[in-house]
Amino acid sequence: MEGVIDALTRDLITRQGGWSFCVTEFVRITQDKQPRRVFHRICPELRQNALTPAGVPVHLQLLGSDPEMLAINARVAASAGAKVVDLNFGCPAKTVNRHLGGASLLRYPEQVYAAARAVADALRPLGIPLTAKMRLGYQDTELALDNARALQEAGISQLVVHARTKVQGYKPPAQWEWVARIAEVMDVPVLANGEIWTLEDYQRCVAVSGIRDVMLGRTAMTDPWLARQIRQHHAGEAVTATEFGQVLQLLVQWLQQPAQAYQEDVRVMRTKQWLVMLRLRWGEAAHQVFDACKRCETEDELIGFLDQAIRIL
Ligand SMILES: Cc1cc2nc3c(=O)[nH]c(=O)nc-3n(C[C@H](O)[C@H](O)[C@H](O)COP(=O)(O)O)c2cc1C
Repeated sequence: MEGVIDALTRDLITRQGGWSFCVTEFVRITQDKQPRRVFHRICPELRQNALTPAGVPVHLQLLGSDPEMLAINARVAASAGAKVVDLNFGCPAKTVNRHLGGASLLRYPEQVYAAARAVADALRPLGIPLTAKMRLGYQDTELALDNARALQEAGISQLVVHARTKVQGYKPPAQWEWVARIAEVMDVPVLANGEIWTLEDYQRCVAVSGIRDVMLGRTAMTDPWLARQIRQHHAGEAVTATEFGQVLQLLVQWLQQPAQAYQEDVRVMRTKQWLVMLRLRWGEAAHQVFDACKRCETEDELIGFLDQAIRIL
């Protein structure tokens, strides 16, 4: 997730277990051939066989609209070590959409096809699969099935469906019933995405979509143990619910990681962003911690407040 989940965060999250793969922040492709170092910066794991330290595969995500440039850059990504490339047709950001990238392309299934086809063709001889992520559409769902079919015809091997249109942004609910409709016309695996915060949400999503495989977005940060709990649930094992204090401990661990790539002020800012996201899942408890921490300027101060909150909880 762009701006919030980098390699260090992926490491911390995937170490908690249960994750089968993860995807990088998108690399935006416009008119330039990116040097390999760009892919290594976004995805340092490419140097380690595209695996997180816990051994979870990392897929490299590209976002763009120009088929030729996407194909050229997909080849560079492959030479940099990518094992799976993913194409983003879901990003709602204005800058991205203005240049016909992300979700804006969903208005033109033939362009979705052209972009995916060029990348799939470039990667096929290298034995590298192409996957994709789409929303249900731009303004409405009218072209959802056409876009999914276009991606399949183009040669993707897996599709994640964020069950909302671009216009719906991140507003709940997610329309999981649409994942079922899309899966019906697809031969490749389809994963459901959107608004799965708890095991109960997951069970409702399965009931509505008929899909067992899901992608967790913001929940990777608000409850990284949900992935493991879903597996425990399927194995018929006892599921231990996550406690808010565990999540705060994870933030402290993130701040204390030795290989930090950021200056202190950025670390403090990103931790506060993380706390903001926690409010979506943990409500009042997270509001209170955020209020207590929002004026912190140093890492020590922030860790002090977080430790205090963990002790009180
Ligand atoms: C801050 C932020 C950054 C995101 N960046 C990406 C991204 O780079 N690539 C992508 O495919 N999706 C990105 N997403 C979308 C999520 O992957 C996911 O599809 C969306 O949040 C819905 O799922 P959720 O309800 O589980 O969070 C981003 C979402 C947020 C909130």
